[in-house]
Amino acid sequence: MTHGAAAAVSHPNIAFIKYWGNRQDALRLPANGSISMTLRGLLTRTSVRFDPQLRADQLTVNGLPASEQARLRVSAHLDYIRGLNRSSEHAVVESQNDFPSAVGLASSASAFASLTLAACAAAALELDPRDLSRIARRGSGSACRSVFGGFVEAYTGEADLDGYAQPIAAPDHWDLVDWIVITNQAPKPVGSSEGHRLAATSPLQTARVADAPRRLDLCRQAILQRDFAALASVVELDSNLMHAVMLTSQPALLYWQPETVELMRSVSHWRDQGLSICYTVDAGPNVHCLCLGEQAEQIRLQLESLLPEARLIRSGVGGPAHLVTA
Ligand code: DP6
Repeated sequence: MTHGAAAAVSHPNIAFIKYWGNRQDALRLPANGSISMTLRGLLTRTSVRFDPQLRADQLTVNGLPASEQARLRVSAHLDYIRGLNRSSEHAVVESQNDFPSAVGLASSASAFASLTLAACAAAALELDPRDLSRIARRGSGSACRSVFGGFVEAYTGEADLDGYAQPIAAPDHWDLVDWIVITNQAPKPVGSSEGHRLAATSPLQTARVADAPRRLDLCRQAILQRDFAALASVVELDSNLMHAVMLTSQPALLYWQPETVELMRSVSHWRDQGLSICYTVDAGPNVHCLCLGEQAEQIRLQLESLLPEARLIRSGVGGPAHLVTA
């Protein structure tokens, strides 16, 4: 790392207990806590170089200039980090995903986790992982979890300073695999930031949030005890609750496509037949099928025969975000 420049890598994560809705939108303080698994199979690399000659921040994603909306979001994040070291230098930011960007995989988590690590290092700020997680949250709520590897819990936090994530268990604690089944590549009609703002318009959101501590306990215990049946039950419940809120928001958000429902039904059926598998669906049509590593290849065959056109991405449990040579 040279002075004023740094690069970091991080993985996206899949939420077992999902964050949907903010108590405070500007700070992204979540309405409820969340639990996720960091995804080894996908990687984002972000480099940041501060340059006193620049008159504005620059952002490229996968080698192309980013939209003005994305650039402004990154710039606002850098403003907070510049405030910490009382600097006003703008930066060149380059972010690269090794996975397809426009397929509805949550790239904001790995984007803001890697951006936070790289920008804080380039600004010569020495921060512990908890602080990095808190800062990443301000950029994207789910990014606070991608700072860590393994199985990770994000807290609601009373205020900015205690809104961060912490690991529950290391990556090698449990050999789980996420098969991400990509059936639809169209950009999502409503992104998660807008979705979070709509959550409170659903009459079901209050009940979903009130019950979240119970689901978090069930999920944390299932992970610690490596109890797949218990995990499957709470993960599917939590995904269905979030989509119930989405469907009853005003305007209503329906992210599912016919293939989404077909997969949800098939996964339940395969579990009844004895496979250790469950589904979870984020703010998009693609289904994440979680399973035991030892059954992952058998499950791949099932998925391929059900949806031969679908693209499958396999991911085990990933490690934490970290700095790399710039
Ligand atoms: C459905 O973290 O993408 O994936 O804070 O606006 O960037 P922003 O939202 P984001 O929301 C994640 C929503 C989710 C559930 C989850 O990952 O917890």
